[in-house]
Amino acid sequence: METLVSTWSRTAQILPENYVFPIDERPGSVEVPICQNIPLIDLAEGQSQSQTIDTILAACEEFGFFQVINHGVSEDLIDDTMKVVKDFYDMPDEEKAKVYSIDPSKSCQLYTSSYTYADEKVHFWRDNLRHPCHPLDECIHLWPEKPTNYRNVVGKYSLEVRKLSLIMLELIREGLGLKPGYFGEELTGSQSLSVNHYPRCPNPSLTLGLPKHADPNVITVLLQGSVSGLQVFKNGRWLGVEPLPHAFVVNIGHQLQIISNGKLRSAEHRAVTNSREARTTIVSFINPSPDTIVEPAKSMISDGVPLYRSFKFKDFLKFYEAKKGDTEALMEAYKIKP
Ligand code: OGA
Ligand code: NI
Repeated sequence: METLVSTWSRTAQILPENYVFPIDERPGSVEVPICQNIPLIDLAEGQSQSQTIDTILAACEEFGFFQVINHGVSEDLIDDTMKVVKDFYDMPDEEKAKVYSIDPSKSCQLYTSSYTYADEKVHFWRDNLRHPCHPLDECIHLWPEKPTNYRNVVGKYSLEVRKLSLIMLELIREGLGLKPGYFGEELTGSQSLSVNHYPRCPNPSLTLGLPKHADPNVITVLLQGSVSGLQVFKNGRWLGVEPLPHAFVVNIGHQLQIISNGKLRSAEHRAVTNSREARTTIVSFINPSPDTIVEPAKSMISDGVPLYRSFKFKDFLKFYEAKKGDTEALMEAYKIKP
């Protein structure tokens, strides 16, 4: 196994040169303020459904991000899942070596930075474990065998988070006025889990855990844990997303921006590191099935001209990966020119 950053950085006193980002991408040492305005959605019973939908829609238009509490996923399950993924990274190297793979065609991958590590000029300060999770019975056997409760706990978590993602999509569907069943198996048929581990970093001002990007999927449900690090780019400024215990951070992916014909924002974001403690995040991505044709919903096109052309999801993904975080160039390529 090539060494994971979480392994070799335990004794690192200085940040290696190949983790130093270009000056205009570095976070620097300026404190980024925690944004108090990113909406908090309370799904507890007794809330007015139409008000919840209005708040979600406004959040998706303005920030592309919101947080959810009282979401129905049990706190014990959240704690158990966070523990088991941390236990995964704490295992001895020999165990992680069994999972280590940078090959994107493999179902379960574990690597440092990204799977294009070998071609990168600068690496991201993170390790990443990633695998599909839907349908669960078709992929659970591909997951890490250790820790011994990984499959059991993460399996339950994946199902619960999928349920929550579909509830979110249903509220968004109603808010956009799309027909019932719009977000069916075609648009949500694929789900993957990505566990980011950002070790303590000797110089957080020079590097990033994840550089500026927007997510290429439909909707993302992220568990940030108790350590801050997620930042959203808005009006040319970075805003911190507050870590709230047991809350999920939800954000809009490129597919929802396109389906909504540009009404909802797929916002750019990044993850910064810190020198005090490691940070672990659990990210669930809902994706269309690879061959699904994605396009702006007919009812979202007010003047007869859609903003984006239609495409096959798998082709979009390929192009997304080639563009390497250049969101503007990516989305321009899918825009219909007047
Ligand atoms: C991602 C992502 C942010 C975080 O995995 O796409 O944006 O805080 N993660 O880990
Ligand atoms: Ni992201």
